[in-house]
Amino acid sequence: MTETIEKLPELQKAEESKPEFIGIPLRTMQTDAVLEAQLYIKIGSDKFVKYRETNLEFNDSIRKRLQANRHTHIYIKSDNSHSMSSYLETNVKNVLLNPKVTLREKASVLHDASNYIVKELLVDPRSPEPLKRSMHLVESSAEFILSDKDVLPHLLALVSKDYQTHIHSIEVMSFTIALGKRLGFKEGSELLNLGRAGLLHDVGKSFVNPHILKKEGPLDKNEFLEMKRHPNFGYLALHDTGLPNKDVLHIVRHHHEDLKRKGYPNGLNPDEIGLDLRIVTCIDIFCALTKNRTYRTAYNTFPALKLMKEWVNMKIDGKVFTQLVYLLGGK
Ligand SMILES: [Fe+2]
Ligand SMILES: [Fe+2]
Repeated sequence: MTETIEKLPELQKAEESKPEFIGIPLRTMQTDAVLEAQLYIKIGSDKFVKYRETNLEFNDSIRKRLQANRHTHIYIKSDNSHSMSSYLETNVKNVLLNPKVTLREKASVLHDASNYIVKELLVDPRSPEPLKRSMHLVESSAEFILSDKDVLPHLLALVSKDYQTHIHSIEVMSFTIALGKRLGFKEGSELLNLGRAGLLHDVGKSFVNPHILKKEGPLDKNEFLEMKRHPNFGYLALHDTGLPNKDVLHIVRHHHEDLKRKGYPNGLNPDEIGLDLRIVTCIDIFCALTKNRTYRTAYNTFPALKLMKEWVNMKIDGKVFTQLVYLLGGK
């Protein structure tokens, strides 16, 4: 394999700004846990008012009072990373384990938390705390997705049709875990590494000029060359954190390789492209096709698969593609 040595450029301004508040559906708030966060309620469409101080118990009568006043969510400030950690560690995990909460509600809570965590990660993928949180997110997501085959459709139903890097990354992670399971990856480190690679594969886009990422219409030659650097940027950014292992880093760096040695950055031989990388590449293509882009509208599932079928043995592995078709068909 030819090594490509590149230096990481200056970090670009985040594609998406973080939300100021994150909403937690009242129905899913744990009543026995003390959340180390100030709680806010939303008045009207965009005003947030402090409702409870830190470290106070949230009980059922508070929930009922809020619901009687037509509140559906309670909010915490997202810029307080301690509050967020507390929320993510206590509430999200508890909600996912709570048998009284429906799959749809669990999916909604995980979806909101995922959006927050991955947006924060993309601000600077080298930051240790957001990266650690993202690794925990993969664990929680994998446990949830593998617990019931109906979880994936619930999660996918919440995903926006419009392409944004954080949404795309979460979607790719969710699919890779489900597809990896079908293709014989073992629960535990094998599937977690696949999910980590799915979540992290595009973090290098944080170092690409946002004008290129958001450009309406096709990229010119130089812009495309710049865009094609994102796998190496992602690899370089994550490599120095010492967190993702070498298999995950390999996938991040090579998720745009293909089976005809025409991919990038290295034009790898097919025998250097393992099943894990083939899974992430196939899912990446499917998830990108089925989103609205600045230069075209989203493909529906069937036309996307029809197009992908033509790329089997070129960009896409046939066995992986077949299992993706079965997964989408609910078989
Ligand atoms: Fe990519
Ligand atoms: Fe991607």
